[in-house]
Amino acid sequence: MQEQIQDNEDLAEIIIKTNASIIVPTYKEVENIPLMIERIDWLRQSLGVDLELIFMDDDSRDGSVEAVERAGYDWVRIIVRTENRGLSPSVIEGFRAARHPILVCMDCDLSHPPEAIPQMILALGSGQQFVIGSRYVPGGSTDDDWGLFRWLNSTVATLLARPLTAVRDPMSGFFALRKADFDRAKDLNPVGYKIGLELIVKCGFENVAEVPIHFADRLHGESKLSLKEQLKYIRHLRRLYIHQFGNAMHFLQFMVVGASGVVVNLTVLTILLMLGVADSGALAGGILVSLVSNFLLNRRFTFSYARDNAILPQFLGFLGASAVGMVVNYAVALYLRTSVLPETPTAIYVAALTGIVCGMIFNFLGNRYIVFRK
Ligand code: GDD
Repeated sequence: MQEQIQDNEDLAEIIIKTNASIIVPTYKEVENIPLMIERIDWLRQSLGVDLELIFMDDDSRDGSVEAVERAGYDWVRIIVRTENRGLSPSVIEGFRAARHPILVCMDCDLSHPPEAIPQMILALGSGQQFVIGSRYVPGGSTDDDWGLFRWLNSTVATLLARPLTAVRDPMSGFFALRKADFDRAKDLNPVGYKIGLELIVKCGFENVAEVPIHFADRLHGESKLSLKEQLKYIRHLRRLYIHQFGNAMHFLQFMVVGASGVVVNLTVLTILLMLGVADSGALAGGILVSLVSNFLLNRRFTFSYARDNAILPQFLGFLGASAVGMVVNYAVALYLRTSVLPETPTAIYVAALTGIVCGMIFNFLGNRYIVFRK
């Protein structure tokens, strides 16, 4: 890597002029900390760059603090955190504490090769805003022994992020950006592991580059990526989708909840009929239960930003919006049928479907902007 860089004087100059802060989130990484310091030290010496290394430790109490102190370098520090723990918040806090104009985030387990850092800084120097150490671009790789489950897990997580960004490895925890760009980032809501994805989406970076890396399996300690963290990823994705797609995402959720209401309605109807309830009662029961379940699901998911508001006025508003939506549905369908559409056998269906769509849109807007307003 060093030879490659020295081949190109201009690029080497960019690197030599660029000081960077390397932020490493840690939890129980005492065995890896000295190895990490050693490899970054090698990079500092071979490039002559002022690299600052900050371990953001969530109070591991495993000797990590002592391991940093033993190394005795003034360019390495460890910040022990006791509040708002988690990988992403610790990276954000580390970025805020960083002193240099370039920020690099990487894991402590040596999965990410520090040797790729110069290339990442070069990419920033050549106009990129965000640079990822990527497993999934040509030249990138992972160790061979990834089982089917791990591979599937990573592939599904990556595909779910595809509508948000076209990058090949949005799950990577190895990335670099300018501190000035980070300082401009607004509304960061770091949940779980995917701080890189959060930054790409929330900062709206257009120039994102990927530098191929070999992602090695950790030699010491264990991954902390639990099922709980993976569920957090789903919640994180939902927030990012809402951020990126706004009302379209609210509308989609509203539709999904509406579809679930059909299932609830028919299930309750069937159960009531099996219990011997008369048809009129069973129909009413299905409608009532599905209205309540639609309301609760919309309050919990579609319009979750308003779920701290008083529930009773919201429920009454929801019923009101549904009733007005039905009137809009009926009025539009009737008007089309009687005054607009020609006398054909399909006219009544076209009228009915248009009425349904208008009613739904009206219902959605009423809920979004009146019933569940912020
Ligand atoms: N401060 C802090 N707090 N650090 C944490 C926490 C936490 O709660 N949990 C994990 N870390 C640190 C670990 O000590 C390690 O340095 C880094 O974050 C990554 O955690 P791992 O538990 O080793 O992650 P992984 O190997 O399963 O996940 C890797 O792959 C993902 C992509 O599939 C990492 O590279 C992730 O960054 C990456 O997103």
